[in-house]
Amino acid sequence: MDYKGFIEEQIACIKQTVGQEKAINALSGGVDSSTVTVLGHRALGDRLKTVFVDSALMRKGEPQRVVETFARLGIKVELVDARKEFLSALAGLTDPEEKRQAVTDTFYAKVFSRLVKKSGAKFLLHGTILTDIEETVAGIKRQHNILTQLGIDTKGDYGYTVIEPLKTLRKDGVREVGKLLDLPAEIANRIPFPGPALATRIVGEVTPERLDVVREATTIVEEELADSGAFQYLAVLLSDRATGIRSNKREFGQIIVVRCIESVDARTATATPLPWDKMNRICERITQIKGVNRCLYDLTPKPPATVEYV
Ligand code: XMP
Repeated sequence: MDYKGFIEEQIACIKQTVGQEKAINALSGGVDSSTVTVLGHRALGDRLKTVFVDSALMRKGEPQRVVETFARLGIKVELVDARKEFLSALAGLTDPEEKRQAVTDTFYAKVFSRLVKKSGAKFLLHGTILTDIEETVAGIKRQHNILTQLGIDTKGDYGYTVIEPLKTLRKDGVREVGKLLDLPAEIANRIPFPGPALATRIVGEVTPERLDVVREATTIVEEELADSGAFQYLAVLLSDRATGIRSNKREFGQIIVVRCIESVDARTATATPLPWDKMNRICERITQIKGVNRCLYDLTPKPPATVEYV
């Protein structure tokens, strides 16, 4: 594929669609939204406003890291604190699709449409990729970023038109485009991270305390597996508990699952055969998190499993 040609085409297309209006986009720091951010700024300059919404569901230090990385690229990112809104929308929910729906609604219908109105933008640039569309259309999972493909009238319902410049690419293609757009390697090669963020890695209710546990486990897994070369690695907090023993006392503790997969585009995946020493080290660190007394490694391929647990 001619990625240089693709970039030129998309820049021209964004320019033409947006005309003299303003556009807005939400950056998560992942490769898809980062690539769209740079494409959009090349096309529109200051007429594209880029925001990072802190949903309380992000990884440790992520909001600040994203703002600083893009400042180095000359792109200003506005940090929006919406933590309370997301947490209250998720309170009490345990059903996976209801949780995803709550994140979608809070993001698009509440936080984002408010930001769009304030900014005067008529267009939203979004990093939807081909795999998101295919899996949503196939009914496998409702991706949170796929309103247009589901026939939801974003203009009528939320007040803006969605532009999806990456919708013909898969992850590997997006990485190529990102590199050609001079994204730092740490972003272009970053492992995938889902839009609904850590909410997809908590089975059961999403609470600030449970987020802290899965966030800490995520940091450990990402540190330990950074040089694994795997496609994606993650930590999941289960809603079950298990009996254990700590300081000679019985403890009914929490369970973390570690997942590390090989894949090309996340449509299918197999578990990485990690070295035993590595798994033991991860287990040791994860069971030092307060209240966590079990750490499991997930061997299940996709299918029948999915990558995320929610
Ligand atoms: P699943 O769990 O569906 O994940 O096998 C496949 C790939 O997609 C990521 N993922 C998402 N990405 N919004 C996203 O942008 C989402 O709602 C979402 N759900 C899953 C997941 O991390 C994996 O790489």
